[in-house]
Amino acid sequence: MSRSGWARDTSGVAAAWTRLRALEPVSLAALFAADPGRAAAMTRRIAWSLAPGSAAEAGMIIDFAKTHLGEAELAAFEALAAASGFAAAREALFSGGIVNVTEGRAATHAALRGSGTEAQVEEAEALLARMGMLVAAIHEGALGEVRHCIAIGIGGSALGPALAIDALTRDLALVEVHVVSNIDGLALERAFAACDPQTTLIAVASKTFTTIETMTNAASALKWLADNGIADPGGRVVALTAAPDKAVAWGVDETRILPFPESVGGRYSLFSSIGFPVALAVGMEEFSAMLAGAKAVDDHFRTTEGRANAPLLAAFADQYYTRLHGCQTRAVFAYDERLALLPAYLQQLEMESNGKSVTLDGEPVDGPTAPVTWGGVGTDAQHAVFQLLHQGTHLIPVDFIASIASGDALDPVHHRTLLMNCLAQGAALMAGKPSHDPARAYPGNRPSTTILVDDCDAAALGALIAFHEHRTFANAVLMGINPFDQFGVELGKAIAKQIDAGEGDFDPSTRALMAAAGLA
Ligand code: F6P
Repeated sequence: MSRSGWARDTSGVAAAWTRLRALEPVSLAALFAADPGRAAAMTRRIAWSLAPGSAAEAGMIIDFAKTHLGEAELAAFEALAAASGFAAAREALFSGGIVNVTEGRAATHAALRGSGTEAQVEEAEALLARMGMLVAAIHEGALGEVRHCIAIGIGGSALGPALAIDALTRDLALVEVHVVSNIDGLALERAFAACDPQTTLIAVASKTFTTIETMTNAASALKWLADNGIADPGGRVVALTAAPDKAVAWGVDETRILPFPESVGGRYSLFSSIGFPVALAVGMEEFSAMLAGAKAVDDHFRTTEGRANAPLLAAFADQYYTRLHGCQTRAVFAYDERLALLPAYLQQLEMESNGKSVTLDGEPVDGPTAPVTWGGVGTDAQHAVFQLLHQGTHLIPVDFIASIASGDALDPVHHRTLLMNCLAQGAALMAGKPSHDPARAYPGNRPSTTILVDDCDAAALGALIAFHEHRTFANAVLMGINPFDQFGVELGKAIAKQIDAGEGDFDPSTRALMAAAGLA
C-alpha cells in the first residue's frame, strides 16, 4: 500500500510512458497543418468576477497550441493521470487529506481562498478577518503614524509578498513596504536608508519563527528603532507565523501576532497572514481580490477533467519536455514590469516543490523531476538571452506572460510594442527561418505557451499564482513525488551551524576556505 491516501497504478503508469515513448514526434507546423482548429482547441480560459457579486468578468487565456501535444500525446497523458491517481490526489488536496506524506500533513493553501473542508475554510476566514482588523487599525493610526513597513522574511515568507507588492503598488501604496530577506546586512541597510524610524513598522514573517536570517534581521531592525529614539521598539512589531508561541517567546505582543495554519507550506503561504505586508500596502479589498482570482483557478482545477484542466494540461506539457525530450530547464518571461519578480517566485515554487529524487514511497524516481525554472522580463531578455533560445543547442520550453490592458499611462505605442514583441517571440521560436548561411538559420519548431491576462490586477495575480501552484501539484502527482516537503535545504543549514561552532569534520577544501574567510 502506498504511503499516500490514493492509489497509483504503477503498471498503468509504466504503460502510459511506454505509449508516450513510442509516439513519433510531430513538428509544430505539422500539428497546425493537420488541425485548422488547433489554436482554439488548445487554448483555455479561466474567468472571475470583476467585483464581488458583479456579472462582469475578467480572466486569462492560456494558449498551449505551440506545444508539441497532439491528440495521441494528450490521450496518453490522460491515461497517465488516471493511472497516477490524479483525481483522488486532487480530492485529497482539497479535502484536507494527508498529501504531504513525509510530514504527515495536509496542504491547505486552497482553503485560504475558500476551497477546502468547512472547518479549514472557517479557520482561514477567521484568521483573515483578524488580519483585516489589524490592517484597518494600522491604517486608522492605532500604532501611530505608519508610513513605512520593513517586511522581514525569506524564501516563501518573502518572495510572494515582494512579487505582489511590486506588482500592485505601481500607482499607489497606502504604506511603503520594503521586503528584506538576505542576511547580508546590506539588504537591511538599504531598507533603513529608505525609511523613517519614527513611522516604520516591522513585520517579521516566518512560518517557523526560527530561521536564522529572519531572526537576525528582525533583531537588527529592533535595534535600529531603539538607536533612533523609539522608546518601545517591540510595540512596532507584527509577527506572521505558524508558531505563535515562538513569537510570544521572542517578545511579540499577542495582539500583533497573525497566525496561519501549520498545514500551509511556506512557498504556498502568500494568501495567509504572510500576505499581511501586501494588505498593508494595497488594502484588504485588493487582497481579497487576489484571493478571488486564486479561487477561480481553484474551482477550475478542482472541477475540470483531463486536457480541459489548464494546470493539468500545463503539467502534461512539462512532463512531455522534461521526461520525453530531456529538457533540463523551463523559461518564463513576463512581458510586464509588474511581474518582474514572478520568475523568482516560480523558481522557489517549482524547484523547492518538485526538485526531488524519491517517490512518495521513498523509492528512487523513475525519471527526471522538476526542471530548472528560470527567466526574466521581456523585452529586456530578448536583448540578452533569447539568442540561445532561438539558435542554441538546448531545447527550452518557454512561457510568455503578458497583460492585454496596459499598466502605463504613456503613449499606447509602449504597450503595443511590448505585446507585439511577446507574440513575435513565440511565433519566431515556432516558425524558424531557413537560410543558406547556417549562422543565419533558425531551426524553429521550438515550443512555447502564452498566458494573457485581461489586466494585470490583484485578481489576475492571484489567478496566476494559483495556476502555477496547481500546475506544480499536478506535475508532482504525475511523477509520484511529494511537492510539499523540502528536506533538501536542511543539511546546508546544519553545516553552517557547525562552522559557526567550529565543531565538525570538515573536508580540506572547506577547512581552507574557512581559514581564508576568517571563520576558523
Ligand atoms: O529553507 C527553506 C525554507 O524552509 C522555505 O521552505 C521557507 O519558505 C523559508 O525557508 C523560510 O522559512 P520560515 O518561513 O520558517 O522562516
